Amino acid sequence: MWRSTLFLVSFWGHIARCYPAAETSYPSTLGFERPDDWEKYVQSPATNIVSPVAIVSNYTQGNIQNVEGLLAGQGVTTLTRNDGDIVPTIVVDFGQNIAGFLSIQFGGAYNSTPGIPSIRLAFSETLEYLTNVSDFSRSDNQPDGQMTTPGSDQIAVKSDPYTWTDTHGCEFEGTKVCADGFHGYRYVKIYMDALPADAPYTTSYGSVSISSMSLNFTGFLGTPDTFTGWFQSSDEQLNQWWYDSVYTNDMCTDTFRENDTDPRGAYSPTLEGKLVIHDGAKRDRDPYVGDLAVSALTSYLSHDVPVAARDVLADLADHQRSDGWIPPASIRNYTLELLDYPLWWVVCSYDLYMYTGDTEYITDYYPVIVKVLDKFYPSITNSTTQLLQKGLGVSGAYGDYAFLPRTGPVTYYNVLYVLALNHAASIATFLGGHDDDASRWTARAANVSDAVNSNLFDTSVGAFWDGTCGSSPCATHAQDGNSISIRSGVANQTTANSVLSYLSKAMARPYGNSFYDNDVLQESFSQRVYAFISYFEIDARFKTGLADSALDQIRRMYGWMAANDPGVTVWEGIGPNGTKYEGAFTSLAHGWSTGIVPALTNNILGVTPTGPGFSTYIIKPIPGDVQWAKGVVPTPKGPIKVYWDNSFKNQGVFFLTASAPDGYNSTISVPVTNSSVPIYLNSRLVSGGENGTDIKVMSEGGYTSLPVSGVGENTITVGYQVGGKRDL
Ligand SMILES: *[C@@H]1O[C@H](CO)[C@@H](O)[C@H](O)[C@H]1NC(C)=O
Ligand SMILES: *[C@@H]1O[C@H](CO)[C@@H](O)[C@H](O)[C@H]1NC(C)=O
Ligand SMILES: *[C@@H]1O[C@H](CO)[C@@H](O)[C@H](O)[C@H]1NC(C)=O
Ligand SMILES: *[C@@H]1O[C@H](CO)[C@@H](O)[C@H](O)[C@H]1NC(C)=O
Ligand SMILES: *[C@@H]1O[C@H](CO)[C@@H](O)[C@H](O)[C@H]1NC(C)=O
Ligand SMILES: *[C@@H]1O[C@H](CO)[C@@H](O)[C@H](O)[C@H]1NC(C)=O
Ligand SMILES: *[C@@H]1O[C@H](CO)[C@@H](O)[C@H](O)[C@H]1NC(C)=O
Ligand SMILES: *[C@@H]1O[C@H](CO)[C@@H](O)[C@H](O)[C@H]1NC(C)=O
Ligand SMILES: *[C@@H]1O[C@H](CO)[C@@H](O)[C@H](O)[C@H]1NC(C)=O
Ligand SMILES: *[C@@H]1O[C@H](CO)[C@@H](O)[C@H](O)[C@H]1NC(C)=O
Ligand SMILES: *[C@@H]1O[C@H](CO)[C@@H](O)[C@H](O)[C@H]1NC(C)=O
Ligand SMILES: *[C@@H]1O[C@H](CO)[C@@H](O)[C@H](O)[C@H]1NC(C)=O
Repeated sequence: MWRSTLFLVSFWGHIARCYPAAETSYPSTLGFERPDDWEKYVQSPATNIVSPVAIVSNYTQGNIQNVEGLLAGQGVTTLTRNDGDIVPTIVVDFGQNIAGFLSIQFGGAYNSTPGIPSIRLAFSETLEYLTNVSDFSRSDNQPDGQMTTPGSDQIAVKSDPYTWTDTHGCEFEGTKVCADGFHGYRYVKIYMDALPADAPYTTSYGSVSISSMSLNFTGFLGTPDTFTGWFQSSDEQLNQWWYDSVYTNDMCTDTFRENDTDPRGAYSPTLEGKLVIHDGAKRDRDPYVGDLAVSALTSYLSHDVPVAARDVLADLADHQRSDGWIPPASIRNYTLELLDYPLWWVVCSYDLYMYTGDTEYITDYYPVIVKVLDKFYPSITNSTTQLLQKGLGVSGAYGDYAFLPRTGPVTYYNVLYVLALNHAASIATFLGGHDDDASRWTARAANVSDAVNSNLFDTSVGAFWDGTCGSSPCATHAQDGNSISIRSGVANQTTANSVLSYLSKAMARPYGNSFYDNDVLQESFSQRVYAFISYFEIDARFKTGLADSALDQIRRMYGWMAANDPGVTVWEGIGPNGTKYEGAFTSLAHGWSTGIVPALTNNILGVTPTGPGFSTYIIKPIPGDVQWAKGVVPTPKGPIKVYWDNSFKNQGVFFLTASAPDGYNSTISVPVTNSSVPIYLNSRLVSGGENGTDIKVMSEGGYTSLPVSGVGENTITVGYQVGGKRDL
């Protein structure tokens, strides 16, 4: 598969290095070396058994011997409480957000009369929301009549040494001395106290010794050897945030287990035991399809575990309603009514097909695509305007990814519809034999697109309206519809520039770009940032040629999350002043917020599939202020490897080398338009010099592009001769 690699390596005379996924190497022809040390950014624990790394000492109180004993290998810790004493309390820090099942190795319990001494635990992702009860407990959502706790986990400590593992349920009578089981957190408060309701089984007094504690990590253990795709660049922060987001997604990639999923009717026998991408590590442990629009891409591009997304997409398709609507998740037994998520299901199915080439999936579920697009959405279409109109048919009370109180011909739903229709038309074309579907969907997409442009654009600000208030447009504009108008092609280049300029002006905050420009729909919407929907704006900025503003938005948003507790993992939402938007309830490890991974891999490294399973793809770096980047993108036939260097752009030089599995065809585009600059493909001059070849080189939009058929490694060099040689 890599037949040219060694050949070129020997000519370049540089050092080959070893990678987990495959052996590769990069030339040092520009006279300097680039580091190959991306593994240092990986945030996964080394093994699934994780120990706390520190004691947060200002919480320590009461009669405790050897507080440090709770850290691995530091001896035994003993907590003692007599009547009238303050409550012995210790807070441990696992160093970063983690998720799984906590175990405590108890050395015994003694001096407790009457009853058994009780330890209580409170878990939290942040110190800010660390109290006597967990920042989120399953009891918060538990239906009446089932296990409840005040929000802490209780343990009746046995007198002989044993290991207690946090499992969902109660030690006595089915209702007493109860624990949540699964938790996602960074900090645990351990304190000696008994709930009155747990009497007579436990007491607050006595002594308890603990020899160690650890967490059994249940997410995808994303150690360096598991990376089939990686990213590195000249920008240390971008690099770290890419890996932080991968780790966040890994925490959410977990087996669907009855007692660890969202208690709100999310348990589904058809998902039990399957690997899925959950919505949030600590709380909404239910896979939601819209979230996959981002989290599945992160998954495909980092560890190539498509089954975690496929299991969700297939299960939701299997629950399609007779009118074509597709549930967003298993929550409420597949009845939570969202208007946008069936469209995201189509988009995510397309992504699965493009990134993984899963023809079996797309063939099996093709009829589901037909039904959702040809039955459900026409039922909420205004036949005069051709626009989806919230309020028509069943849609009146339907929500969306943020349960927004919007009505009428909402821009977001319509541009997402255009995107889904066009993706469905591509699927129909790739599969073959569905020409009628493809042309019908393409024509409808064009109709809707025209209608959005002529009916929903607010010329006074240069951006699309959100929806209607009564019979006229609401005086508000949203990030979602405006951003996706660009990805879906509804906005042309002129409109895209106008829209993005308005979003920059009206929505930039120190911690990202807000999802509304004002508070017309709801208080403080203008101060709320969703990394999820921001991905579509960031991507639109790159695609519109505004790389600097895309990077600025990334730096504000990911920089903010990285700098604030718990660090590393990315948040479900950011509220006014950069707060956690739903307080303690906010999930601070959310796969849907990991858009920096596809944003950087697709746009900075520059690799994006354009055919199923990367059968065709483009390499088109959009560098902004990034000087160089390199990385690997996994495909079904093997890795695509890219290294580019823009350090000598002042001299008109852009260096790029790429290799790919045989049989794949790419278009390589480099940000150079000077037609006098020579371009070499595998050291053969293909343009700009005296030796024209049959390779068609095109210049457009600040880029020079050439088609490259998949024959192993190709090196394209612009304005620079590889190793000073012309003939290899
Ligand atoms: C304890 O110290 C941490 C810093 O280590 C600080 O963030 C936190 O607010 C302090 N908490 C209390 C209760 O003092
Ligand atoms: C937490 O527990 C301590 C010790 O029992 C008590 O002093 C404090 O009031 C409790 N705080 C809350 C918020 O319940
Ligand atoms: C779920 O927890 C209940 C106790 O609340 C227990 O009876 C049941 O066996 C558990 N189910 C699984 C699959 O572990
Ligand atoms: C950790 O969990 C896995 C499965 O989730 C289990 O097989 C393993 O035994 C557990 N390890 C420990 C040390 O509890
Ligand atoms: C969920 O809905 C299905 C189909 O309507 C029904 O058969 C099943 O009993 C429901 N499950 C629960 C737990 O209500
Ligand atoms: C369809 O849109 C037109 C134009 O906005 C409007 O006058 C009409 O009332 C809408 N139809 C329905 C059924 O809402
Ligand atoms: C496009 O819109 C026109 C009227 O606006 C309608 O007659 C036609 O059927 C529409 N085409 C499609 C493919 O929806
Ligand atoms: C871009 O789209 C707008 C709205 O449809 C249209 O008025 C304008 O002419 C288009 N501009 C170009 C350059 O195509
Ligand atoms: C945000 O900061 C402003 C000004 O300091 C303050 O008035 C407001 O209460 C803060 N809001 C939140 C949610 O913290
Ligand atoms: C790749 O290009 C070659 C030569 O142009 C062509 O024969 C082949 O069909 C193309 N493959 C794909 C997957 O497009
Ligand atoms: C184009 O490239 C040639 C050859 O490298 C150089 O002499 C010329 O100055 C460049 N022109 C521009 C406008 O950069
Ligand atoms: C052009 O081709 C000729 C003959 O193959 C070769 O001698 C010459 O070096 C080539 N020039 C360049 C600039 O590649």
